[in-house]
Amino acid sequence: LKVTMTDVNGVSKTFDGVEEGTSLMELGKRNDVAGIMGDCGGGCACATCHVYVDGDWFAKVGEPDDIEFAMLDMVADVMKQNSRLGCQIKMSPEIDGIEVTVAPASS
Ligand code: FES
Repeated sequence: LKVTMTDVNGVSKTFDGVEEGTSLMELGKRNDVAGIMGDCGGGCACATCHVYVDGDWFAKVGEPDDIEFAMLDMVADVMKQNSRLGCQIKMSPEIDGIEVTVAPASS
């Protein structure tokens, strides 16, 4: 599966052959994508894996659930309409080719 990530510095990288079930946080961390920390290890408890889901892809991944939304609310200053936590987006054929932009850290 394919994923394109733009890091906090505006550098885009496309990853191919991403395995189904891999979260965008894991992928970003593994590849040192700037701005993806994943401090809590994917537990939906830190928001350091915050990404903006680009364009029409947001409709495909859908809205965050209540727990995720509460976490995003902690970074409300940089939250956008298309915000999601990278650890909560797992790769599947439905979102093959997804494009996301890493959100800046909350101040
Ligand atoms: Fe902590 Fe996603 S890695 S919320």
